[in-house]
Amino acid sequence: MASYPVVVIPGDGIGPEVTAAVQRILQAAGAPLEWHERQAGITALSAHGDVLPNETVELIRRLGVALKGPCTTPVGEGFTSVNVQLRKRLNLYAAVRPVRNLEGVPTRFDNVDLVIIRENTEGLYSGIENHVTDDAVMSMKVATQTACLRIARWAFRFATRRRWSKITVFHKANIMKLTDGLFLRCARRVHQEEYPNIDYQELIIDAGCMRLVQDPTKFQVLLLENLYGDVVSDLCAGLVGGLGVVPGANIGDEQAVFEAVHGSAPDIAGQGVANPLALLMSAVMMLNHLAEKAADAACRDTADRIKQAYNRALRDGAKTRDLGGDLSTDGFASAVISRLIAASGG
Ligand code: NAI
Repeated sequence: MASYPVVVIPGDGIGPEVTAAVQRILQAAGAPLEWHERQAGITALSAHGDVLPNETVELIRRLGVALKGPCTTPVGEGFTSVNVQLRKRLNLYAAVRPVRNLEGVPTRFDNVDLVIIRENTEGLYSGIENHVTDDAVMSMKVATQTACLRIARWAFRFATRRRWSKITVFHKANIMKLTDGLFLRCARRVHQEEYPNIDYQELIIDAGCMRLVQDPTKFQVLLLENLYGDVVSDLCAGLVGGLGVVPGANIGDEQAVFEAVHGSAPDIAGQGVANPLALLMSAVMMLNHLAEKAADAACRDTADRIKQAYNRALRDGAKTRDLGGDLSTDGFASAVISRLIAASGG
């Protein structure tokens, strides 16, 4: 069986706890991975004097794949987000965040099954800000045709390959006529010229959010610029059980970094109660990505076995505190591992 070298970044807050739990599960599943641990975030600042050491970025550039824990960003002061820096430096322009109901995690809606495709390199989320006068500060929203067309093409191609039939763009082009207008025009153009068979819908984001919380089952692929994608991701997480159950990937043409949607959760860090499932699901996405690139059926099978094991554990009521259970981070990892062993007849 092939073995894939992968960078692992434990990150800050709950990051090291959930990363260790996920690595334990992957090892028990016999995932064909060779870990190369590197640092990013506050943890890296103390060890390397930099929140995003060059060495970390260059190793991801060389190996092509990373599993990343969350990194803390100070609020209202301090350094630029590690996540923003990493996505820009590696040009990881497409964030992919599947949002699905899980068996054993009851929520207001059944049958939620949508995916958020977020442009990851531009918009207000880039945090390009400056002081204009002593009284005024400014934040710059940049959109380029290159990036807008690129993410639109990525989303339509993704939808076609995964047999989704509908894409909805959330925008605010009624107010931001130039930037969101460009995003919208690019999406329309890709739809009309390249993917006319996909059902295409546009919604002004405020009304779109209302419709999402009224009935998320009406949506399949959501295409959003950077900041809207950030906000709507957490909204959607709330529809299926919270931030503990939504995975993600940041994908470029050459590299891919897999990470949960959630942050470093300082309120529960160090207590061993964080849910490792979102990072585990991100790791399953990573295994599928590796399997697809290398046409490796055994790697895909490992991903499937892990998925079946965590679904089984949830169905049996094995849950962390955020899902109403009482298992610790490690307790949940052990519950998944015992289902993996049982399924292999061990
Ligand atoms: P957060 O996602 O860290 O936490 C929000 C709430 O969800 C908290 O109550 C937390 O306890 C809970 N939560 C999050 N993940 C959980 C898990 N796995 N299990 C159980 N409960 C979980 O968002 P917040 O508080 O806004 O941000 C904290 C820090 O994380 C900030 O510095 C922020 O910049 C950073 N952040 C980093 C991200 C990344 O590295 N990709 C993404 C989002 C935020």
